[in-house]
Amino acid sequence: MPSNAPSPSAPAAVLCGLAGWVPSRVVTNDELAERLDTDDTWIRTRTGIRRRHLADPGQATSDLAVEAGRLALRSAEGGSGDGSADTVIVATTTPDRPCPATAPLVAARLGLDGAAAFDVGAVCTGFVYGLATAAGLIASRVAARVLLIGADTYSTIVDPLDRANAIIFGDGAGAVVLRAGHPDEPGAVGHVDLGSDGAHEDLIMVAAGGSRRPYAHGGEPTPAQRHFAMRGREVYRHAVTRMAASARTALDRAGRKTDDVDHLVPHQANLRILHSVADDLGLPRERCVANVDSVGNTGAASIPLALADAAARGRIRPGDRLLLTAFGGGLTWGSCLLTWPSLPTHPQSERTTP
Ligand code: UT7
Repeated sequence: MPSNAPSPSAPAAVLCGLAGWVPSRVVTNDELAERLDTDDTWIRTRTGIRRRHLADPGQATSDLAVEAGRLALRSAEGGSGDGSADTVIVATTTPDRPCPATAPLVAARLGLDGAAAFDVGAVCTGFVYGLATAAGLIASRVAARVLLIGADTYSTIVDPLDRANAIIFGDGAGAVVLRAGHPDEPGAVGHVDLGSDGAHEDLIMVAAGGSRRPYAHGGEPTPAQRHFAMRGREVYRHAVTRMAASARTALDRAGRKTDDVDHLVPHQANLRILHSVADDLGLPRERCVANVDSVGNTGAASIPLALADAAARGRIRPGDRLLLTAFGGGLTWGSCLLTWPSLPTHPQSERTTP
């Protein structure tokens, strides 16, 4: 297995700012059960979700991304000097528009004039793909300070009457600031694994609105083609096997074992999936960081939101060794090792804690 450790002479991407932000509107399982053929017990036992936050009508992904981004820059400012970034990456499946990307608008609204800005599309794996991209830009000295935001408003693509999906997804944004530093210091993005299998693109999909089935030229899509669709049971199976395998690959590349992991931080898909990944890796479930109960599955935002929540609660502490792992549509997957740094403040806590 080839090691993909950054060259010792190249700068590493070091986490120096973190924040999460969720919209204020809380939707409980009971509230969903008023309009869907479902109930709180089914949702809790099948997914571990108790509530989620949903954007208000008119609130777009960039609105959430700007809030999380501003808090992350402020957090970084407390830690290492300035609240700026020369590059903004937004990982999202729900951009404000098909064109242009959402990141330039986010950069402009944050006052980061002239910053390089682009979106990463890897569905729920977007944040881990974004971390790897940021690390590469920093290692090659193209960027010195990257604001990476995972932000999604799944409520804008999920059919509110689709009980299988409406119960799972929530809206939110999580952001980190990465600066150039040394590969050995806490917070340095460590060994990474990324992968995909496009042969299974049909398992998670919004069928219309792209070049395959455009809205333009009179190609009127059916309501089902406009909405997010997921073959839940099959996705479940892939999510467990892919996240566990990817996590193992990242560990192998680092020459580490599961015993070396203090916290597994998986994409918050479904509590049963998180526990199955931990079981598969032979990690005690208590080492699995989970906040899916209070925010649901927030797509590309889920890992930074889980990190922000766990850090705010003191659940993860400086020096702890973390293994991040994600899975999403594409199919895509990815994992990354990280030793937790000392971060100044976690101003997001009041918005993500129950
Ligand atoms: O973030 C990207 C990755 N996404 C994921 O990882 C999500 C992966 N999938 C899942 O989390 C689960 O598959 C779901 C939560 C979506 C569904 O749970 P499940 O245990 O796999 O249920 P199922 O789809 O196998 O459905 C079991 C039954 C079905 O009824 P029948 O056919 O057995 O009569 C469904 O119609 O549960 C029914 N059902 C529901 N019942 C009450 C499906 N959704 C609901 C619901 N309330 N909301």
